[in-house]
Amino acid sequence: MTKKEVKTIGVLTSGGDAPGMNAAIRAVVRTAINKGLKVKGIMRGYAGLLQEEIIDLETTSVSDIINRGGTILYTARSQEFRTEEGQRLGAEICRKHGIDGIIVIGGDGSFRGAGKLSELGINTIAVPGTIDLDIACTDYTIGFDTAVNTAMEAIDKVRDTSTSHERCSIIEVMGRHAGHIALWCGIANGAEDILLPERYDGNEQYLINRIIENRKRGKKHHIIINAEGIGHSTSMARRIEAATGVETRATIIGYIQRGGTPTCKDRVYASLMGAKAAELMADGKSNRVVAYKNGEFIDYDIQEALNMTKDIPEDQFEISKMLVR
Ligand code: ADP
Ligand code: F6P
Repeated sequence: MTKKEVKTIGVLTSGGDAPGMNAAIRAVVRTAINKGLKVKGIMRGYAGLLQEEIIDLETTSVSDIINRGGTILYTARSQEFRTEEGQRLGAEICRKHGIDGIIVIGGDGSFRGAGKLSELGINTIAVPGTIDLDIACTDYTIGFDTAVNTAMEAIDKVRDTSTSHERCSIIEVMGRHAGHIALWCGIANGAEDILLPERYDGNEQYLINRIIENRKRGKKHHIIINAEGIGHSTSMARRIEAATGVETRATIIGYIQRGGTPTCKDRVYASLMGAKAAELMADGKSNRVVAYKNGEFIDYDIQEALNMTKDIPEDQFEISKMLVR
């Protein structure tokens, strides 16, 4: 395949935001400029691309953002870009603005969009940015570390009051389709039960029996970590209280998990991934995803990456159960 010379690149953030996205943007901009490229910021993901919300970015445009949650480029979801017409228009707009390639920071939906743009002749490099850790090709996604630390601290606080009142607590963390946040918090917070979208079979009677048994054994609280994808935590709490006679409260941690100052790990890994994405772009590569695998930053073909599957590590789930027996 002949390499296309890239002179000007765009960078956008897409899908759900994640702490550390700003660190990645900063690294993309500064690495690309260092390599002699011009950089444009595309606001509001693919939606902003289709609206031509495009700004010039200089080294100083990304000053003072490495420590900030959210994304200075904003993010959005675009139905129009899911259509062939929308994708063709996106590629035309890139050409109109002299953008030879785009670095897309987002989840696997955003990667699909990037794959389409590369088929239309716009070089694309994708960077995994999602708190859900649900991208199969990589062991790390930008934002997961901050999100689990935020959730862990919140759960510690709920645990204090849950113990004082000798209650059962159902604590809902994010992860509509993926239980990685729930599993990590479950282990880090010593939860009695962890309900994962990938595993939970809806057997509430099992939970009820465990709460009653644990009470007999003298446990002062019972923490159930519930991934968002499982269902309604508040009604589950009501049913469990009625069946066990143990006071039960639900806490939904919610969007605080998606914001806040990124952890050191998120800042460093996002910076390294952003820099690698810009280097790949400067080398004329396209249709690649940056990934962290077995301790190394590498890259995959986008389609190959999207075809990979990822499950909850069964051994970690088993250990989490054993540690609260
Ligand atoms: P995430 O990137 O976090 O998985 P989404 O799944 O919402 O988030 O995807 C973000 C955006 O990427 C969508 O709003 C859409 O514009 C684009 N996108 C998602 N799937 C596709 C697809 N199959 N083809 C083209 N664009 C897509
Ligand atoms: O960012 C990932 C995530 O938090 C998922 O866990 C959740 O399903 C989704 O985003 C919800 O995002 P929104 O409410 O912005 O659509």
